Amino acid sequence: MSAQSLAAIAQAMVLPGKGILAADESSGTIKKRFDSIRLESTVDSRRAYRDMLFTAPRAADYISGVILYDETLRQSTLSGVPFPRYLAQQGMLPGIKVDAGAKALAGFPGETLTEGLDGLRERLKEYAELGAKFAKWRGVITIGPGLPTNYCLSANAHALARYAALCQEAGIVPIVEPEVLMDGDHGLARCEEVTMLALERTFSELRAHRVDLAGMVLKPNMIVPGEDCKQKATVRDVAEATIRCLKSTVPALVPGIAFLSGGQSPEESTEHLAAMNALGSLPWQLTFSYGRALQAPSLKAWGGKPEGVQAGQAAFLKRARLNGLAHAGQYRRDMEAA
Ligand code: 13P
Repeated sequence: MSAQSLAAIAQAMVLPGKGILAADESSGTIKKRFDSIRLESTVDSRRAYRDMLFTAPRAADYISGVILYDETLRQSTLSGVPFPRYLAQQGMLPGIKVDAGAKALAGFPGETLTEGLDGLRERLKEYAELGAKFAKWRGVITIGPGLPTNYCLSANAHALARYAALCQEAGIVPIVEPEVLMDGDHGLARCEEVTMLALERTFSELRAHRVDLAGMVLKPNMIVPGEDCKQKATVRDVAEATIRCLKSTVPALVPGIAFLSGGQSPEESTEHLAAMNALGSLPWQLTFSYGRALQAPSLKAWGGKPEGVQAGQAAFLKRARLNGLAHAGQYRRDMEAA
């Protein structure tokens, strides 16, 4: 695929007013989510849940693409249309999580390295045939006493870059996700410092691996204090620190940045995105690629029951619409009540 086609897909993923739904929970993670509504995780319950989300009427008005898990990419809607084809028909790009998860990094207690490079070229070829237009790989960086180590930052950046290069070779746009976790009691400044290191290292490896920066999307964390930090940050603090960090590390060639929500509440993550987009002209589109922040209210409203489908879809569409408005710079807090 030509560089222009990759760039066109990347741009379509971050179109103004739209963002990405991360619905690529692995079987282990979706089980945890279903446990919260006391629903058994089975092939069929996972399919019914994803069907509820993806068939929400006019979701494509706010959702540019959906990240799927391997199982879902091969499943069909309840009415029998393969999910990737259904999404494409609606105007949403199908994407695929291709990493095999963050595994303990030998010799580095408390740190992980994301695996999944072996055989990736062959898997990407199949995913492209199944209709995937973009992919996701998540590297995980932990803040703690003496963490992250330099080696962990390098190893994860290296894996992200190897993944991204293989994606582009297969005609698939890579979402490059180096996530600095919110776990811990560190302050906002420490998150900023570590995120800066993670992004610098990531872009240095992307360049070294000759990745076309115009044909990718970056999925970073926002700069927020650790979950257990006593000193809370204002929306403005988060917005300013995040933009400062991104401006100093992310080349303007990158078409878009789509944040993960990482444990922020649905409302917080929308407010933060809106505040960043209100800070003035930026070299990239700034949007969302939320998992929990888009799905949590919907999962609860659905409750695993057929009679909950409408309420589940309404809750999902509300978050999708408000985040779309946050991307477009038109979100106001009073819209939450409507
Ligand atoms: P959260 O928005 O729940 O952090 O999930 C996004 C994601 O895809 C993490 O890889």
